[in-house]
Amino acid sequence: MLIRQGIVVTHRATARLDIRVRGETITEIAPEIAPEQDEEVVEASERLVLPGFIDSHVHFRDPGAPQKEDFFTGTLAALAGGVTTVLDMPNTQPPTDSRAHLVQKAAHVATKAVVDYGFYFGATDTNIEEAASVAGEVAAMKLYMGSSTGTLLVTEFSPIYRHFTTFPLDKPIAVHAEDEQSLKYFGGMGLQDHNQARPPLSAQIALSRAIAIAEKTGRRLHVAHTTTWRELELIQEARSKGVRVTCEVTPLHLFMTEEDQHRLRNFGKVNPPLRSRDDREALWRYFDDIDTIGTDHAPHTREEKDQPYSQAPSGMPGVQTMLPLLLNAASSGRVKLEEVVKRCVTNPIQIFGLKDKGTLEIGKDADIVLIDPNHEYVLADDQMLSKCGWTPFAGTKIKGQIQQVYLRGNLAYNQGNCLSTAGSGKAIRYSK
Ligand code: NCD
Ligand code: ZN
Repeated sequence: MLIRQGIVVTHRATARLDIRVRGETITEIAPEIAPEQDEEVVEASERLVLPGFIDSHVHFRDPGAPQKEDFFTGTLAALAGGVTTVLDMPNTQPPTDSRAHLVQKAAHVATKAVVDYGFYFGATDTNIEEAASVAGEVAAMKLYMGSSTGTLLVTEFSPIYRHFTTFPLDKPIAVHAEDEQSLKYFGGMGLQDHNQARPPLSAQIALSRAIAIAEKTGRRLHVAHTTTWRELELIQEARSKGVRVTCEVTPLHLFMTEEDQHRLRNFGKVNPPLRSRDDREALWRYFDDIDTIGTDHAPHTREEKDQPYSQAPSGMPGVQTMLPLLLNAASSGRVKLEEVVKRCVTNPIQIFGLKDKGTLEIGKDADIVLIDPNHEYVLADDQMLSKCGWTPFAGTKIKGQIQQVYLRGNLAYNQGNCLSTAGSGKAIRYSK
């Protein structure tokens, strides 16, 4: 197959190029490639051509909570959002916290996925050796320093330190950096404002601790969902001293503030919370220092969200809306599309060691997204393929529509229709 004359965007440049795909792989990229006899030609001169996005932070609830999401609906939403690889978090039921649970989860989702996928391994107080022994089969470890949805939590110094000294040097340890003791303190004050109940101070305390331990142990720290100015200062300082730290932001925190949480009420409740305008602006100011954009796609049902504040679970869906929102940010001049591709494709591949994935590179999987850059539409709940059926971004006008998505050379999504069958998504192979 030859994708001809599209406006091809990578982390390096934007250029009009032809892309040849053979089987599942990109075999040639050049300003002009002559079609071979009988070769399928896709005319893309009116299209942006992007590498398939990698969402390195999703919660697909499988196994354990299929009423919120399962691996089929989660990956379907991903596909429609131009996301061809997802890395799924371990706070499922049972949690992905042992080799047996990892094997069980892999078998359970294998027949459901329509995009490629990998898993995080969940740290507990006691699974230190086991985490290190399965490290090569997962994208990273996830360590919850503060409690959120699910049961995973490690707060004591000893297990945190032992995880950091035992986990392989080149695998990332992703932390949910909110400090449990301070969450308990502020959470016990009966506050209804989520940014006050889980304040920036909790993030600052937990991240300071994680950075100190990463510095001492030389391990690779990956900070999930950075939300505050202070965290970005801490990360910058740590890096200047040579600490190996990378960080993520979510579209939720890039595009919304605590005012949106007040408007959306529990539907805008997420951990860490939507922050102040100043903190949100800091994420954009420090954008150069941000390595990845992950959605923290965390679907909960309307019924659950409609409960009183203290009972309603935290988290919002987002895997289908990340690329559309970032297209908007690019067309409004807030960010360059190349910089988006770097954070949603190039950097996740490098940080998590995704062996067969590339940013439209020869020899790598042909995961390709074609976009009509001029088509305008408005995001709505009924477009969402996630089982939860709602989006906090309903009503947002988007410029740029995802038209076709190829997964490893196969047309998997075409103008609103999923063409691939459950089970066509494959488990990721890791290079480290
Ligand atoms: C996540 C979820 O619901 O799984 N919720 C959230 O608010 N981010 C859990 C998490 O990772 O914190
Ligand atoms: Zn999360």
